[in-house]
Amino acid sequence: MSVARAYAASLSGIDGVPVIVETAIGAGLPGLTIVGLPDAAVRESRERVRSALRQLGFPLPGRSVVVNLAPADLPKAGTALDLAVAISILEANGDLPPGAGSSVTLVGELGLDGSLRPVPGVLAFAESSLREGRRTIVVPAANALEAAVHPDLAVLPASHLGEVVAHLAQRLELPRVSEAADEEAPEPDPLDDLREVRGQALARRALEIAAAGGHNILLTGPPGSGKTMLARRLPGILPPLSRPESLEVTRIWSVAGRLPSHSGLVRSRPFRSPHHGATAAALAGGGADPRPGELSLAHLGVLFLDEFPEFRRDALEALREPLEDGIVSVARASGSRSFPARFLLVAAMNPCPCGFLGDVRRRCRCTERDVSRYRKKISGPLLDRIDLHVEVPAVPAGDFHGPAEAEPSSVVAERVRRARKIQASRSGDPRYTNAALPSRHLRQQIGLEPAARLLMEKAMDRVGLSARGYQRVLRVARTIADLEGSGPTSAGHAAEALRYRPAARPETPS
Ligand SMILES: Nc1ncnc2c1ncn2[C@@H]1O[C@H](COP(=O)(O)OP(=O)(O)O)[C@@H](O)[C@H]1O
Ligand SMILES: [Mg+2]
Repeated sequence: MSVARAYAASLSGIDGVPVIVETAIGAGLPGLTIVGLPDAAVRESRERVRSALRQLGFPLPGRSVVVNLAPADLPKAGTALDLAVAISILEANGDLPPGAGSSVTLVGELGLDGSLRPVPGVLAFAESSLREGRRTIVVPAANALEAAVHPDLAVLPASHLGEVVAHLAQRLELPRVSEAADEEAPEPDPLDDLREVRGQALARRALEIAAAGGHNILLTGPPGSGKTMLARRLPGILPPLSRPESLEVTRIWSVAGRLPSHSGLVRSRPFRSPHHGATAAALAGGGADPRPGELSLAHLGVLFLDEFPEFRRDALEALREPLEDGIVSVARASGSRSFPARFLLVAAMNPCPCGFLGDVRRRCRCTERDVSRYRKKISGPLLDRIDLHVEVPAVPAGDFHGPAEAEPSSVVAERVRRARKIQASRSGDPRYTNAALPSRHLRQQIGLEPAARLLMEKAMDRVGLSARGYQRVLRVARTIADLEGSGPTSAGHAAEALRYRPAARPETPS
């Protein structure tokens, strides 16, 4: 009995894990059996492989063909194993020289006609192949650019099973793809520039502080005041993604099946704005074999939640873990998975259910009870994780006709970049923005002047600032100091930071 091996990969969370596809052909009833915990998709793979092989002129032998996907205890999902299954069978049957596929990772879904179709997770498969020391990977042509991210890995795109067979039989050389040359970050979308935002000085300033220190922000204002407009401009003032960050984002988008065909690395910060009707599963991720949801698609970018109080309670609850730890856990029968989910949260809400409380243009129809019920929909612990609370009033008509253009995003982005650089050199880790800095580091690095301390202590009494609230204000004050390039944190910095704290909220248990 001859046993052949081909090498593929499967997903575990957002990581690729190697899979060995073994095929044995022997006496016994004719037929194709696949073992090794295959899910429904893998079972269907049988029909696709059978048809693709027949199209190619290699009908299954009239003997027993057993395919084993190892390791057997790894749950395998998706269709990416098709290609390796087909190649493994051909080799076992003597249609390919023995060992023909031994140094190559093979991934891709087969069509009934033998065409090779794109699959999610190819970047993760490519990385897994490199880790295994397999320096060549054959992928569907539409996935080639996302895989071509490492000079040590040869990425060979193919569009048909026949090409792969010819390549492995050394009758054809598949071309090698190299990484697209567009190394620079893309220009920010000129349609999303801060220069178009009129007025709203306080909100613009808060947006800059949010970007500089990584602080979450809540915008409260009537419809049409520019909340959405402001939120969309946040990615454009954040520093460009570093290469490791680009890889992280691309891996997630690829596993989620959200990367467009023929795209390389994601180079701009994600902006996600799921609708308030979204389920907790849509946000956190889900499915029998869980895939990343909106919270992970927003990783290293901006998550915009408009109509914040209208989100379902369980959806809002799903925000807590990522806001605290930068990851989101999804429990499933097949085991719990966690996905990265470190984003800047921009929440937006109306001041009251009708939206016009405090608006001079229209009268508010809500009762006091309506208003308080509306605001209570967001739990205290969640609000506590939002450092910047900003009122965004309707823009007076006069402000729309002013002659001067507002400051463009590029200028703001430069100040943000400098402030982030200061933080990174102080903490030694670029991920530690002031908002994310562990508390003990904060205490060491805050450099609070005596007058600032006095002011903060007074504020604790006056507005009933909780211990956690106190800390959050200090973080914002530090960011304001960094934007100014100031070593110590002064009373002036603390006073400005206090403006972004909602007045006298009772202490809330978490
Ligand atoms: N401050 C502003 N400067 C310039 N245009 C604005 C401003 N506020 C609102 N607009 C205009 O009004 C439209 C609606 O604003 P939007 O951001 O959707 O408001 P909101 O999200 O608060 O309901 C925007 O597309 C923009 O054309
Ligand atoms: Mg809006």
